[in-house]
Amino acid sequence: MNEASVIQQQEREGYAPLFPSFPHFLHGGDYNPEQWMETPEIWDEDMRLMKLAGCNQVSMGIFSWAELEPEEGVYNFSFLDTMMDKCHANGIKVILATPTGAKPNWMAAKYPEIRRMTPERVREFQGERHNHCYTSPVYREKAAAINRKLAERYKDHPALLAWHISNEFGGICFCPLCAEAFRGFLKTKYGTLDKLNHQYWARFWSHTYTSWSQIEPPSPIGEHSVHALKLDWMRFVTHQTVDFMKAEVAPLKELTPHLPVTTNMMDTYELLDYTKFREVCDFASWDNYPTWNGPEHNTVLPADRALAHDQIRCLFPDRPFLLMESTPSQVNWHPVNKLKRPGVHILSSMQAVAQGSDSVQYFQWRKSRGSCEKFHGAVVDHVGHEHTRVFREVARMGDMLKQMDAVIGSRVKAEAAVIWDQENRWILHDFQGFNRQHMDYEETVRSFYRAFWNRNVNVDVIDSLDSFEGYKLVIAPMLYMLKPGVAERLKAFVAAGGTLVGTYLTGMVNENDLCFLGGMPGDGLREVFGLWQEDVDALYDGETVPLKPMCGSASFFAKEMCALIHAETAQVRAVYDGEFYKGEPAVTVNAYGEGRAWYVAPRCPEFNDHLVGNLIRSCGIRPNVEGETIHNVHVSSRENDTERFLFFQNYTDQAVTVDLTCKDTAHPGRDLFTGEEAGSALEMEPYGVRVLVEKK
Ligand code: GLA
Ligand code: ZN
Repeated sequence: MNEASVIQQQEREGYAPLFPSFPHFLHGGDYNPEQWMETPEIWDEDMRLMKLAGCNQVSMGIFSWAELEPEEGVYNFSFLDTMMDKCHANGIKVILATPTGAKPNWMAAKYPEIRRMTPERVREFQGERHNHCYTSPVYREKAAAINRKLAERYKDHPALLAWHISNEFGGICFCPLCAEAFRGFLKTKYGTLDKLNHQYWARFWSHTYTSWSQIEPPSPIGEHSVHALKLDWMRFVTHQTVDFMKAEVAPLKELTPHLPVTTNMMDTYELLDYTKFREVCDFASWDNYPTWNGPEHNTVLPADRALAHDQIRCLFPDRPFLLMESTPSQVNWHPVNKLKRPGVHILSSMQAVAQGSDSVQYFQWRKSRGSCEKFHGAVVDHVGHEHTRVFREVARMGDMLKQMDAVIGSRVKAEAAVIWDQENRWILHDFQGFNRQHMDYEETVRSFYRAFWNRNVNVDVIDSLDSFEGYKLVIAPMLYMLKPGVAERLKAFVAAGGTLVGTYLTGMVNENDLCFLGGMPGDGLREVFGLWQEDVDALYDGETVPLKPMCGSASFFAKEMCALIHAETAQVRAVYDGEFYKGEPAVTVNAYGEGRAWYVAPRCPEFNDHLVGNLIRSCGIRPNVEGETIHNVHVSSRENDTERFLFFQNYTDQAVTVDLTCKDTAHPGRDLFTGEEAGSALEMEPYGVRVLVEKK
C-alpha cells in the first residue's frame, strides 16, 4: 500500500473510513454518459434521477478510451469535463476509471502486439474487451499516457474520490513478449536451470532444460504435464498483471498521492491470485452477480455469497471493501436471468454491507440502448423514468444507506478463519491421481465455511500466507501444498493454544509440487497432527464408507476420498466402519503444545458441519446470536468501540419471527432505522432485513 494514501491505519476496534472526507456509504455505480452524447438532456435527467434514487456516487470512464483519445495522441475530455462538473454540482462523488479495460480500434490496428495470443499462439483479432497483452511495452506506454492525462486534468476536482484501475483484470496472453517475460520471472525465481530442473523433476520423461530459451508457456499443443511449470505460469500471470497495474498506477500516485486506488475483482476468480493485488491497491472492491431466487437460493447460495464477500474483505483486513458492481434486478449473461424478487435487492445489498462493504453499487445506472448488455438490469430502464419497481427498490436502498452513517467505521470481527489458498486451488485443479472427477477444493472449503454461516458465526477467509494470529480456530481444508513458512506458522499457532483442522491430502507437496519424503503431512506437520498418511483411497460416485465415532451415535458416511492414516501421538475420535480399512482411524485429534490439531481423513461434508459445530463451542467462539437458528435466517455483525450492529437477514420468502430471548444481553438492542427497542422477538418480512444496534 502506498504510504501517502489517505487511508489511515486501522483504529483499535473499527475501520478507518475509506474516504475520511466523505464518511458515508456510497450508493451508485457504473455510469456511461458517453453512450448518450447525442442526447445530452439525458445527462441532466440522470442527475435528477440519481438524487431521487438516493445515489451519491458514480464510476465513470470505465470504457471511454475511444472517446477520450479518438486518435493517437489526440485527447478530448469534453464529455468527462462536463460530467465531472455536473456530478459535483449535484453532490455526486466520482470514482474515475482508467480506460484500459477496452482498447480503441485504431490502437489495435496499428499495434498488433497489444492483442493477445491464444494458448496455441494465434493472435486474436480486435474485439470484445479485457484482452490486452499485459506485457506489451506499447500498451503500457499508451495506458500510462492516458492515465497521466486524466490525473493531470482532474487531480484537484472536488468530485473525485478514488481511482478504479481498468476493469475486471483477467485472462491470459501467450505471446512471445509474455513468454520472454515468463523466462525472466523464472530466472529471478530459480537463478539457475539446475535448480529449476530439480524442482520440476525434469529428468522425468527427459524434460531437462539446457537453455532458458527452451522454456515455453504451457500449451495444449506443447508442454502441459509438468505441474510445477504450469503452477509457475499461473504465478507469472498474476505477477505480470500486477506489474501492468503498477505501471498504470505510477502516474496516478505521482500526481494524486492523496487518492486511493482500487480495481474491481471478480467472484472467486480462478486465474488470478488476488492476494498479490495488495501490492498495488489501497483497498478491495468487487463485482457480485449471484443467481438470487435460483435453484440454490434456499440452500447454499446465501452462505456461498458471504464467503466471497469475506474473502474479498480479508484481502485488506483492516479496512472495508466496496461492492463495486451488482445488479439492481437481473443480469443478462446467466443461462436464466431471473428478476430478483421484491425485497431481495435490499437483502442482498445488505448482506454485502453486513460482511464489510461500505457501499452498494450497481452495474449499471442506465440501460444501454444497443449492443450486448442492453437487457442487463439497471437502475434506469429504457422507459426512462422513475416509475418502475426496480427504481423504487433502489431508492429505498438509498434511503436506508443514508441512515447508516453510524455503521461507517465498524468492522467485522472473526475469531475463526477458513483457508482458501489460490495457489493450492490451481495445483489441485491440475492434480493427477486419487479422485480426479471430484477434487472439489472449492466445494470442500465451502462445506466448512457453511458450518459457520449456519451458526451465525463470523469467519475470515484467508490465504495460507496470511497471519493466523488472533484466531481461536483455523480450518485448513485440503491444504495439499505447503508454501515456505506455512507449516512453521501453523505449528506455532497450535503450540500457542490454537485449534487447527486439517483434512486428507494435507501437506503432500512443497511450493513447487515436489512431494515431501519421509511421511506426509510434511514439513513438520506430521508431529502437529500426530499421524502419517499412508494412502488415499478414491471411491466411485455412489460408493460410501460408514464412519463410526468413538462416542455418540451420529452416523456419517465418507464419499469420494478416504485417507488411510496411522495415528502416532493422536487420539482416534472416529474410525472407518467398512472396506478393508474397517476399524482404522478416520478422525483424530492431537494435543500439541497448548493447542489441538484435528485431522479429518475422509471426505464427509456432514461430518465437517458437525465438527465445526462442536469446535465453535469448545473453542469459546461467540456466535452473533445464541440459541436456536432458523433455517436461512442469518445474523452477521459489525462493531466499533462502543456498538455492535447485528444484521438479521431473512433469505426465505416467508415472514418469520426470530426469538431473541436467548440473546446474551439484557437489552436486545434498538432498531437502527426506527430507533425502537427490540422486544423478545423480531418480526421479519419475507426477504426482510433488520439491523439491531447493541451497546457493548
Ligand atoms: C462485469 C463488468 C461490467 C458488466 C457486468 C455485467 O462486472 O465489469 O462491465 O459487463 O459484468 O454483469
Ligand atoms: Zn502477451
